[in-house]
Amino acid sequence: MQKVFVVLAALCSQAIGDIYMHNPRGSNDRLNEASAQRKNANRLFDSQNNNRGGYNVGDATDVAAGADEGKQYRMKYFQSGPTTGKTQLTIEWTNQHGCGGNEDDNPQKLNCKLVLQYMCQDDVDEPTGGPDTIRNGVSTATQAYTKPSRTETEAKVAARKAANVQQNKGLHETWNWYEQCVVRNRNNGLFLADQKLKGQSAIFTRQNANGNRRGYECPEERDYYPYWHPTPWTDIAVLAENASLCDSYTAQSFNVQPYGLCIEKYDSGNRKDSKFNTPASCAEGGGVWTELHNYLEKASIDNEAACTASINRIWAIPYDSVDGSTKECLVKLSKPACQEAPWSRSNHLGNGIGGEPNTVQWTIPHFPSLKEKRCILRMRYNISTDDYDPFNTDSSSNNQPGKPSPVTNNPFVDIGVGRTPLRLAINTAQFGRVFQDRTHAFLLRPRPAELQNERILNLNVRGKRGNIVQVYPSVEYDFVPTNLELTESDLVHIQWEGSNTHKNGRPGGDGQTGEAGEGKSGSDRHNIAQMADRNENYPVPFEKSTMWDNAEVKWIYHGLTSISKKSLAINMASSGYYRCISATECPNPDFADFLVETKEKMQNQLNNAPASYEGAVLKFKKGTYHYMCTRNNNFTNRSQKATIIVQ
Ligand SMILES: *[C@@H]1O[C@H](CO)[C@@H](O)[C@H](O)[C@H]1NC(C)=O
Ligand SMILES: *[C@@H]1O[C@H](CO)[C@@H](O)[C@H](O)[C@H]1NC(C)=O
Ligand SMILES: *[C@@H]1O[C@H](CO)[C@@H](O)[C@H](O)[C@H]1NC(C)=O
Ligand SMILES: *[C@@H]1O[C@H](CO)[C@@H](O)[C@H](O)[C@H]1NC(C)=O
Repeated sequence: MQKVFVVLAALCSQAIGDIYMHNPRGSNDRLNEASAQRKNANRLFDSQNNNRGGYNVGDATDVAAGADEGKQYRMKYFQSGPTTGKTQLTIEWTNQHGCGGNEDDNPQKLNCKLVLQYMCQDDVDEPTGGPDTIRNGVSTATQAYTKPSRTETEAKVAARKAANVQQNKGLHETWNWYEQCVVRNRNNGLFLADQKLKGQSAIFTRQNANGNRRGYECPEERDYYPYWHPTPWTDIAVLAENASLCDSYTAQSFNVQPYGLCIEKYDSGNRKDSKFNTPASCAEGGGVWTELHNYLEKASIDNEAACTASINRIWAIPYDSVDGSTKECLVKLSKPACQEAPWSRSNHLGNGIGGEPNTVQWTIPHFPSLKEKRCILRMRYNISTDDYDPFNTDSSSNNQPGKPSPVTNNPFVDIGVGRTPLRLAINTAQFGRVFQDRTHAFLLRPRPAELQNERILNLNVRGKRGNIVQVYPSVEYDFVPTNLELTESDLVHIQWEGSNTHKNGRPGGDGQTGEAGEGKSGSDRHNIAQMADRNENYPVPFEKSTMWDNAEVKWIYHGLTSISKKSLAINMASSGYYRCISATECPNPDFADFLVETKEKMQNQLNNAPASYEGAVLKFKKGTYHYMCTRNNNFTNRSQKATIIVQ
């Protein structure tokens, strides 16, 4: 009897979970839509989140990028340096269903795990790139996919791909990744409860029994981590159910552990997708079971001796090998970070310990090639309950005659009053469930030669236009981190992005529409002006400000580091609308269109200023600097103030 009540208590809170990234901003499959609801939940990936979540892609200027992806803004973070100079980015998110806390001192109502990963490739000049280039696209439609016919030549497969992949649509995983998933048999050892899967391939899972497609994401890979085949993702961190699982997660990470795939070949010698998913079936079917490796990037060394003689290199077959058998020189990855998931309150989106949203620091990698990379970041939130052992329940517990699944859809339970059972709200497709959010495309660029050794901390902005109920489950504007603590030897990279289409209009789904806020409709704008005290709401006049006087410019997006303090202040206050005071100070003709003395006046709420700002890398002298955004901070309604504390 007691068992039943425990189960009931747990299930009453079994609402939907949801995860939303706020810095860097998560798209939740949005692109640039003016509606509160995203247009297409299948655009790039399966989030399983509320349709209202997510932020639009950044715009580079004061007008919406529209059909020109080149006018979108991509956040540009500096990579770490080769040795001591680490770049840190605060990843901030909210999850709905609670997380963290172990059985002993801080009991939760579920098991929860968060997995952070990224995927990068060399950046290319064209904003959209080729058929495999990561991009946001300019259309909210999903890339097409035509299923293969029974036997196809290599040329036929290539033609099908060419006909499917469109330049104007977003792309994360490649078409070939999805095709591999379609062709490969699913893992038959997985626990399916009483779900009836509509097919044999890896696109069918307990959570995706109908085999629906989102972008070119592979559903089996999406639902399970660590995955048992090679994937295009690199692990950043696992925030585990409890710390005791970390050794196993980091050892099984594809960063450090190769995974097998069945390699079959065309006559040309190129790799052909195989349906076999185990060593035995692969051998029987005439394929070669092959361990493939993940890598940070490919090294420009073409022989084994030189490769293995170099530090941090490995001579191995990469996961994306064209023929599935040739070894190449790869730059090794390190293990992901792992710790117990931070605690958050169930059914209270955003309440971590002390009411603060949870964060982790991502130490951005150093790419030895010194190439600029185009990347996306993904975060998954996995919740499961103790109603079946999530770690030790497999296909042997699936529903079968005379042996029901340990959990079933909407079961009835006897609570001791005979013929009056109670019905539970259980959907076995979602009992044990993975949510996901991903960023828009961003760039990781190599550091300038003179900035190799300092730590760089990123200072950004989160949120979108609207009041608290209009933006929910996204958030209102704020700086991230709100309190940035550093030392005099650290550097701060200040940068932000905003959209011109955050109108939050109809349809609003199960929330409010509207775009309460200052300035032009639909527009996000930010700037930085120093304040004397966070309890005040007026910036200090430039003559009295210390923040820019005490800042040394180490890098600024328009290339002029010997800029006056006043010009720096004006860059920050105008979101880059103005870059310099006068032609006397900045005689270079590149500045002619951005001078305070000659440029058309900036609108006082930044309406004609760019929505995004590439910013500057600054070194601050000891002190405490409070600052605000003059446009969005509205004492009665919302505050956008923050502090840099330099020790
Ligand atoms: C950690 O999680 C595993 C799996 O749920 C469980 O068996 C173990 O008891 C947990 N350990 C602690 C200390 O909570
Ligand atoms: C989610 O947790 C389940 C255990 O309940 C596990 O089998 C699965 O691999 C996990 N998936 C992800 C993406 O973490
Ligand atoms: C200020 O807050 C009130 C109450 O929440 C809201 O009705 C109003 O739209 C807000 N105004 C602005 C400009 O955000
Ligand atoms: C600030 O918020 C109030 C609502 O409290 C609103 O009436 C006003 O328009 C907003 N803007 C300014 C500039 O005060």
